[in-house]
Amino acid sequence: MGVHWQRIAVPFEYPVYFTRDAFAPGNRDLLDAITRKEPARRHRLLVVLDGGVATATVTLPDRIAAYVAAHADHLTLAAPPVVVTGGEAVKNDPAALDELQRRLHALGMDRQSVVVIVGGGAVLDMVGYAAATTHRGVRVVRLPTTVLGQNDSGVSVKNGVNAFGAKNFLGTFAPPFAVVNDRELLATLPRRDVIAGMAEAVKVALVRDAEFFAWNEAHAAGLAAGDLDLVSAQVERSARLHLAHIATSGDPFELGSARPLDFGHWAAHKLEILSDHRLRHGEAVAIGMALDTCYAAEAGILDQAHRDRILALLARLGLPLWDVALRLCGPDERPRLLEGLAEFREHLGGELTVTLLDDIGHGVEVHEMHPDAILRALDFLAYRDAGR
Ligand SMILES: NC(=O)c1ccc[n+]([C@@H]2O[C@H](COP(=O)([O-])OP(=O)(O)OC[C@H]3O[C@@H](n4cnc5c(N)ncnc54)[C@H](O)[C@@H]3O)[C@@H](O)[C@H]2O)c1
Ligand SMILES: [Zn+2]
Repeated sequence: MGVHWQRIAVPFEYPVYFTRDAFAPGNRDLLDAITRKEPARRHRLLVVLDGGVATATVTLPDRIAAYVAAHADHLTLAAPPVVVTGGEAVKNDPAALDELQRRLHALGMDRQSVVVIVGGGAVLDMVGYAAATTHRGVRVVRLPTTVLGQNDSGVSVKNGVNAFGAKNFLGTFAPPFAVVNDRELLATLPRRDVIAGMAEAVKVALVRDAEFFAWNEAHAAGLAAGDLDLVSAQVERSARLHLAHIATSGDPFELGSARPLDFGHWAAHKLEILSDHRLRHGEAVAIGMALDTCYAAEAGILDQAHRDRILALLARLGLPLWDVALRLCGPDERPRLLEGLAEFREHLGGELTVTLLDDIGHGVEVHEMHPDAILRALDFLAYRDAGR
């Protein structure tokens, strides 16, 4: 009789490298990342490549093979790189997940083998989920190939796939074994995705770092033009802010209801679904942040000058502030977007907790959003969009 109070503490540690040309044989970052625990032995790798990346750089499988060959004492490929469909489609397709898990099984990948993922946030999420659920967790080394992958999702501790029409319905918390952010991998990324990914950098600036927000304002034109020096500087600062949050927020596995880094995301997740994934995650986040910024101004939490500065930066970066999906109505003739609040609450668990801004660089939590004020914020954005 009685209770035994079990306590387990598992410290997680992973290096995040900021580098260039990670597959140049002389660059030791990836090698160090993989061998960091057992430098003496040989490590078995399966490389999974994002289809969009494989198409954009057809020489990549050969360069990866040459890298592994140059370090043959420490690295070996379990099989040639596996190419999976790039983009959100891969998170929507249970067959793709099943096929990859079968492959991990057939190749005898064990818990000390390494799945090296080269791809955008969607591929990182889906392959990360497959690896995390194989033998309850095969090591994952991520090489994110998008701005969003490098500045947010790739350095995070989450993975997941979409199911039953819900975003990230299945997923796990699984810190990676290591992350290698290679700026050269961004060179082939279409401009649309470069810009979309910047939404997460603006987001973390808005909730954490006013000075970084001002930096983005000062460099908006160069960033919008896709200047790789500026983009990679923005990526690194955003990644470090996300990493600091995960390390110091006290809730890395999001057990509570608060999610400060999900600013703008209740609407974003709903918009991704409502637009049938026509909107990129980052684009939906930009619109969601614009909406919650206008809402905060409507509610008297944020002053109008700050609202205007935020909307202006998003627009100058080339991010969208409006989409027709915002106006899609259900049978009750109200925007279906409003359903996103209840769905967000359910995804977090517990009480609804939404981060709003009371200043640039500072968030406040609210537990209720008034539908009428959301509708007024929508009207404000619609009016602004029509006036462009
Ligand atoms: N796990 C997390 O913490 C977390 C955080 C934020 C976002 N996400 C998820 O990330 C996903 C969005 O990821 P994303 O914005 O990186 O986009 P994405 O992965 O959907 O990729 C967009 C497109 O770019 C292509 N692509 C990727 N890299 C390329 C390159 N270097 N060259 C040419 N084409 C390339 C892809 O094939 C795809 O067609 C969403 O599913 C979102 O939910 C996860
Ligand atoms: Zn996001």
